[in-house]
Amino acid sequence: MTLDSIQRINGTLHIENCNLIQIAQQVDTPCYVYSRNGIRQRWQAFDAAFAQQPHLVCYAVKTNSNLAVLQTLAQLGAGFDIVSGGELARVLSAGGNAANVVFSGVGKTTNEMRFALQSGIKCFNIESEAELYRLEKIAAEEATPATISIRVNPDVDPKTHAYISTGLKENKFGVSFDKAFELYRYAAASAHLVVHGIDCHIGSQLLDLSPIQEAAKRVVAFQQKLAAEGIYLQHIDMGGGLGINYQDSDSAPSPAEYVTAIVQAIAQPDMEILVEPGRAIVGNNGVLITKVEYLKENEGKHFAVVDAAMNDLIRPSLYGAWQNICEVQETDDEKQLFDIVGPVCETGDFLGKQRLLAVQEGDYLAVLSAGAYGFVMSSNYNTRPRAAEVMVDDTTIHIVRQRETLDDLMRAEQLI
Ligand code: LLP
Repeated sequence: MTLDSIQRINGTLHIENCNLIQIAQQVDTPCYVYSRNGIRQRWQAFDAAFAQQPHLVCYAVKTNSNLAVLQTLAQLGAGFDIVSGGELARVLSAGGNAANVVFSGVGKTTNEMRFALQSGIKCFNIESEAELYRLEKIAAEEATPATISIRVNPDVDPKTHAYISTGLKENKFGVSFDKAFELYRYAAASAHLVVHGIDCHIGSQLLDLSPIQEAAKRVVAFQQKLAAEGIYLQHIDMGGGLGINYQDSDSAPSPAEYVTAIVQAIAQPDMEILVEPGRAIVGNNGVLITKVEYLKENEGKHFAVVDAAMNDLIRPSLYGAWQNICEVQETDDEKQLFDIVGPVCETGDFLGKQRLLAVQEGDYLAVLSAGAYGFVMSSNYNTRPRAAEVMVDDTTIHIVRQRETLDDLMRAEQLI
């Protein structure tokens, strides 16, 4: 199995030492279940691989922003990569340290910048000229200098899905090296801006290390150009992107291999290196449990209609992403090919197609590798309350988000 913390005991799927059937019966379905120790181990694998190199492993909050996930990482001393004021509020509520937060994203609003500045975050990853000027103005008003890095676009092909590739020059992210050069000169001369680092992020679900190494080399060459101008950087942030194995045939590098590749490409033992992994920390430490409501046959084609849908997990419909689906309780029954579909009224509402399974009405299925970009991308489409979230810690089950109620869904609305 492609997962870090998931095992079968007597044919029943367990996360750590908790039985997923018991969890499903206790909290109902659909529900997300995460492994606390698995998440810890993956963050620590990044952290440990840096050894003596100054570094900060900033978990990308967007990947899974449940407060208990953030708390688990904050307790280890993690840094955080945020893309909104909301994510900063979550980090602070979970006990995270603002001084370890970097703020990415192309559309930071004035209010978000002010909040981040007042909170004392480590660095703003600036993505455009206009954003730099706006931050300078806010920093002047607040009489608090803002620490910055410029996000450069190293123009390397990460060889991943088009929707999650970000480091090519046609993407909306970052600025070219030429533009960055101008912006660094401007920022270095500003009384309200403190130049601290440089940032890039080339894409997500990277299974090959050569693009990130190439990006690091281009960043270092640019760093030398800045040094020749008397502008010295104190950190290099290589962004996130390490992929995970969604199927057994994938071969994602380990966090240690990934970190080593970056450290070698940068080759400056005193430089602080930041990375912003998300998927590689939580992806294979979470599953989505769903119940089979109906079996149905149309013209020889078999469907399992389940109680989770595209609103709960949108990756299959949005990206054509493949995630493994398996029986929570293994049996000796004969398997057949099923399309696993949800109750939402869209043909695109499927979790998986043509999967060989033995299932009956009432059985539970687990969608694997669902810890990253699962719950966070869910919606209330079709007035479906969002799923419950559970975090397992060895033999203990913590409900870390209650299932939404219909009252929750209608609370902000008003009849006229
Ligand atoms: N840093 C920045 C600036 C990012 O934009 C991202 C992800 C990360 C870090 C974390 O990347 P990771 O380590 O998780 O690959 N919803 C898509 C993935 C979108 C990724 C967006 N940026 C999916 O479900 O595959």
